[in-house]
Amino acid sequence: MALTSPVPGAVEGRWDRLVRDDRVHRSLYTDPGVFDLEMASVFGWTWTYLGHESELANRNDFKTAYLGRRPIILTRDGEGRLHALLNRCRHRGATVCREERGNSKAFTCPYHGWTYRNTGRLTGVPWPGAYGPDFDKAEYGLVEVPRIDVHRGFIFGTFDRDAESLADYLGPAAELIDQWIDRSPTGEVVVRSGALRLTYRGNWKLAYDNAADGYHPSFSHRSLLAVAERLGESKDMQYFGASPDDGLMYQLYLGHGHTFIDQRPNYTSAGSYWSQQRPQPGREAYEELLRGRLGEDADRILDLAIGSQMNLNIFPNLLLIGNQIQVIEPIAVDRTQLTWYSTTIGGVPDEIDHLRMRTQEDFPSFGEPDDHANFEECQRGLGIPEVDWVMINRGLGIPGRITSDERGVVRGPVTDELQLRGYWSEWKRLMARRLPFESEGPA
Ligand code: FES
Ligand code: FE
Repeated sequence: MALTSPVPGAVEGRWDRLVRDDRVHRSLYTDPGVFDLEMASVFGWTWTYLGHESELANRNDFKTAYLGRRPIILTRDGEGRLHALLNRCRHRGATVCREERGNSKAFTCPYHGWTYRNTGRLTGVPWPGAYGPDFDKAEYGLVEVPRIDVHRGFIFGTFDRDAESLADYLGPAAELIDQWIDRSPTGEVVVRSGALRLTYRGNWKLAYDNAADGYHPSFSHRSLLAVAERLGESKDMQYFGASPDDGLMYQLYLGHGHTFIDQRPNYTSAGSYWSQQRPQPGREAYEELLRGRLGEDADRILDLAIGSQMNLNIFPNLLLIGNQIQVIEPIAVDRTQLTWYSTTIGGVPDEIDHLRMRTQEDFPSFGEPDDHANFEECQRGLGIPEVDWVMINRGLGIPGRITSDERGVVRGPVTDELQLRGYWSEWKRLMARRLPFESEGPA
């Protein structure tokens, strides 16, 4: 019998006390009960990033991933359709597919051998006679995430059948995803199969906060900026070392928890991106080769090699930073995995993609440990019971500092905390919902 039960803890008004205009309570980063609720209400019952189409380029390709803490198999079936299947055997719950990626029409659960098509359909049960004549395999397929949609190769899913469309969910953020992709001459970005995984001892929101935070680079990434200065060249974030609050760079709150930092105006004012990038081994040789091959076009093409000068956060788990796709995977209230996927683009010489790979020497290789140290130190501080609040009030209440347009997009100086105030309001809205769960257990 299917029973519908509300998520425990969805108490009216509870979050208003803990999420205020200028501050949020530390327990939202440290309470395991809050985390459990987030893993249902935020990850899974709103559109959540699952993977990229280029990772499933061929029929019957699959990859495994997580939707919150739910293991899933993302598949492309024999007819080319995408599926997000809960990677949870309908027999006794075991993880069915234990590979990271591959190509297969079917998955066999290693525990007792139940076999499922890559559409989720149960096709085989060893020695089925013991289940009697009423056993209907059609009732025991892998559970499928009911809504799945794609924006320009980015695959999202949600359990919420009543959710708005993905296009509405992304809203103004979709244009910025498009700008990030359209730097490629062919309008396509390919996710490379290799990925860099980093785990830190802290809450997942510390990474989400940080990717939209233009206040910290001048201090947290001082060594990176100092190296750049010593080399006499620039790199992503160079302008944070000087006067980030001068109004050229800006940040946006795009609604639905999505945020954006734009460094491009600064780069545009100072010349091509390429001319400001630091020396890299092989850089001169590449440049010479490309100038010989492409003539006047070389500057434009060379600019594609380096970072996008954009930080785009798509709530709750997708971050586009530089040339890379970063995915937030919460493991526990105080443990998070960040996976950085590098990308290549079509329509450019191979050398450009080699250089795109090399930009990762700056981030994550060089700069990300700075951020992780801060995440872990914040988590330590937020565990102190005598001090309640995390302040998010920078730029709040100063006349003329923050503007908004007719679409509701809010704009302010890059060091402000309007992005935090924005996404916390969406977080509160999602957490306050009462969600139905299909349960076969006792009421
Ligand atoms: Fe999968 Fe038994 S748990 S076949
Ligand atoms: Fe940082």
